[in-house]
Parts: sequence; structure tokens; C-alpha cells
Amino acid sequence: MTETDHGAGEAVAARIERRWAILSIGIVVVLVGMATFIGIHQATMPQGRVEISDPKTLHLSGEFVESNLGSALETDGSVTVRAIGQQYSFTPQCILVPAETPITLRTTSADVVHGLLIEGTNINTMLVPGYVAELPMRFKAPGEHVMPCQEFCGIGHQGMWGKVRVVDKAAFAKLAAARRRLTCVD
Ligand code: CUA
Repeated sequence: MTETDHGAGEAVAARIERRWAILSIGIVVVLVGMATFIGIHQATMPQGRVEISDPKTLHLSGEFVESNLGSALETDGSVTVRAIGQQYSFTPQCILVPAETPITLRTTSADVVHGLLIEGTNINTMLVPGYVAELPMRFKAPGEHVMPCQEFCGIGHQGMWGKVRVVDKAAFAKLAAARRRLTCVD
């Protein structure tokens, strides 16, 4: 290897190194740009679907009247659970659902903002008065989960707890045949 070859080799190496440096900076810029775009997009675009409810008439008419709260077996075999949060309890206080079944949880608040969290699952939503929160859920096995309010809602917040009781699918079907809406206390 001659002296000139050596110099040329170094120049090539330096050029390749610079190219990789530019490329890696470029990747970082693209990623930051994507994160910024998604963040701004999500913050400024309205949700795909917004359902409203009226906290003042919640108990009087519509989907969330007391007689309609609880778990309902749908004709397609899925279950819809309707529940409301109010200072300082959930209605129903104990939600009854079958295992291994697609469940739709529909919930709202009758007064202030509450939170609904089901321990041992990824179910965690805010109950905002005036809006309906809808979440899909599914439980693998029978058991009990506590359901605390996770949003400070006033002096009784600490005591605002509910429960979810998951029962065997067949047992639930038998109960559902006898009653239109189910909760643990039926
Ligand atoms: Cu309801 Cu905290």
C-alpha cells in the first residue's frame, strides 16, 4: 500500500462515516417529527365518535335509567353492561359478567368526573358527566375484581368502590334467562 492509497482510503472512510452520521440524525428527525405530528393530531382532532348523555335526566329516561342498569345478554351472545358513577358509588355496586364472552361496558357520570378502574385488567376510563364512555372487555376466568374510582371526586372519593364478579358462562346464561338485567345481588 502506497502513501497516496492510504490517504484515499482515509477520505473514503471519512465520507462513509459522515453519511452514516447524517442518516442517523435524519432518522431521529423523522421520528421526532412523527411523534409531534401524531401528538398534535390527536390533541386537535375530535374523537371519531362522541356520545352524549344528560346528567340531569339520567335517572328519568333513556339508557341509564335504574331499571336498565346492569348486565344484559344480547342476541348475538355478547353482553352489554350499563353502569353509572355518582358521588360516591357506582350503580350497580357489583357488576356481574360471564367469563370468555365479549362484553361492552357503557358508562357515564350522574354528577362530577369519576374514574373507573377494574383491578387486574386494562380497563381504566374516566366517567365525564354529559358523555358516555364505551369500552370493550373480556375476562378469561371466573373471579372477583375490585373496581375503585380512580379520579378524585370529592370528600367521599376514598370510599367509592365497586366490584366486578366474573362467573362461568353457562351460569350467567341461566341467570340471564330469568332476568332482563343482571347484577350480583339478583
Ligand atoms: Cu368518584 Cu372518586
